[in-house]
Formats: sequence, structure tokens, C-alpha cells
Amino acid sequence: MSTPRVLDFQATVWITGATSGIGLHLAQSLLRDNHRIIATGRRLQPLQELASEAPERVTIAVADTTQPDDLEKTRTLFREQAPVQMAILNAGTCEYVDIAQFDASVIEHNITTNLIGTARSVETVLPALRKARRAGLPAHLVIVSSSAWWFPFGRAEGYGASKAGLTYFAHALRADLAAEGITVTVVSPGFVKTPLTDRNDFPMPFMVTAEDAANRILKGLKKGRTEIHFPKRFTYTLKALNLLPQCWIDSLAARMTRKSQETDE
Ligand SMILES: NC(=O)c1ccc[n+]([C@@H]2O[C@H](COP(=O)([O-])OP(=O)(O)OC[C@H]3O[C@@H](n4cnc5c(N)ncnc54)[C@H](OP(=O)(O)O)[C@@H]3O)[C@@H](O)[C@H]2O)c1
Repeated sequence: MSTPRVLDFQATVWITGATSGIGLHLAQSLLRDNHRIIATGRRLQPLQELASEAPERVTIAVADTTQPDDLEKTRTLFREQAPVQMAILNAGTCEYVDIAQFDASVIEHNITTNLIGTARSVETVLPALRKARRAGLPAHLVIVSSSAWWFPFGRAEGYGASKAGLTYFAHALRADLAAEGITVTVVSPGFVKTPLTDRNDFPMPFMVTAEDAANRILKGLKKGRTEIHFPKRFTYTLKALNLLPQCWIDSLAARMTRKSQETDE
């Protein structure tokens, strides 16, 4: 008999960054599947709109994942809503470097939100997941990273570094939590149409909708996958490029960056 998974039965799931894009669609899909959610983000209004879809199964809280005091408030919710068996740590940002006016604060913002904010979220939810395990229930930590860092895209120094660090963090966490039976999944999407990518001014091949992305993520989680990446045409291309000698990757990356700079002019 296979080990039960969190989404096999009605469960309570914490989702960060549930106010738009992938996080919002994940929340809506989980509600359609009859789960309970604790939805957080920095903006109250979209959280209230989400809660109105199933008031009895949605708990909301305004929480900036980079602010320990905000997260402390969600810790109280985890106690009230126990058992919390899954956390989908999805909150994230993408800020690009302008190489002509290099500003290290861009790197800092990406890393603070995407890596440190996620680590703080793990710190906040881990006691709740451990409590679920002690009660004999499955527990699952899901970390939304990106496939962008698999190739050195120009201007993405900050975003790529934050997601490379985040993926390493998640993999090491997986090793540490294995003995406790807490599953760690890393999600590495390609381009997804959301407010985050609506700001991009360059071609985004094989882009999928946020609804499609949420469906692919949930399908993977229901199957117990620990690595979820999509769309495969994009992610396998990046994986194949990674097998090339570094000097070939460098020259391809420089050519792509030059081309996009020429289009901008
Ligand atoms: N779209 C893509 O192509 C793509 C590709 C790969 C990976 N991803 C990753 O997928 C995740 C979701 O992105 P998305 O595309 O759905 O973008 P999005 O629509 O802009 O959603 C980002 C979410 O993160 C929240 N957020 C941002 N900073 C936060 C903070 N400091 N504290 C709490 N919440 C914060 C935002 O909510 P508030 O503004 O209300 O705080 C929002 O709900 C991100 O981690 C992103 O890096 C996206």
C-alpha cells in the first residue's frame, strides 16, 4: 500500500503570495478540491475576495514574508487551524538589473524576498508540520523556485541568484527533514502569465497560463513528486543547454543579451 499523501484527504494548506498569479490559482484549485486554506499576502483586498469564494474554508492574514512580526501572527493561525499539513511557499518577486547603472540593492531585494522570506516562512510553519507528523499525518513543504537560474539570462543576476540559492536551500532542507518524514518539493516553472511576467519586455517562449501552472503543480503534488518543472519543452531545453561547455553557454547568453538590448534601442 502506498503512503498517504496530504492532498488525498481534506487538508489545511498555507499558501504565501495567494493574492495573484500562481498562488491565487493554487488557492482556488485547492478550494475546488474541498481543502481548507490559510492564504497570506501583503494586500488585504484580494485576500478578502478569495475568502468570499468559500468563507468557511478560507482563513486570511496580511503578512509580508520578510517581516518576522507579520509571520508571528500567522503562527497563531496555524495553532488555531491545526493540523496544518502543507505549506506552499510561493511569495516572490522578480527585479532586473540595469547593467549601465548597476545597483546592488536589486540583488538584495530579490534575495530578501525570494530566499530570506521563504526561509522565515519555513521557520514559522515547521512546528505546525512537525505537530502533524507527531499526530501520524503526512506533512509536505512546497517551495516555488524557478527554472530561470538554469541558464545565465542577462539582467537576471538578482532573480537567478535568489532562486539558485532557494533551490539549494530546499534540497538541503529535504535532506535534513527526510528522517522526520516531511516531504520537500521544489517547483521550477518556466514562463507563466502573471502580473510578475506582464512587466517583462522580452519574448517569453512556451508561456503557460497561471491556471495551467496551478494544475500542473497540484497534479505533481498529488502524485508525490518532489521535483516539478514545466513546461517540459522549455525546462528540458534549459537542462540540455546546461550540458554544454561553460564557454559555449557564455557566448550564447551574451549573444541573447546583446540581441535583446538591440531590440530595446
Ligand atoms: N510567472 C512566472 O513566469 C514564474 C516563473 C517561475 C517562477 N515563478 C515564481 O512563482 C511565484 C509566484 O509568482 P507569480 O508569477 O504568480 O507572480 P505574482 O502574480 O506577482 O505573485 C507574487 C505573489 O507574491 C506575493 N509577494 C511578493 N512579495 C511578498 C512579500 N514580501 N511578502 C508576502 N507576499 C509577497 C504577492 O502578494 P502581495 O503583493 O499581496 O504581497 C503575490 O501574491 C514567485 O515565487 C515567482 O518567482 C514565477
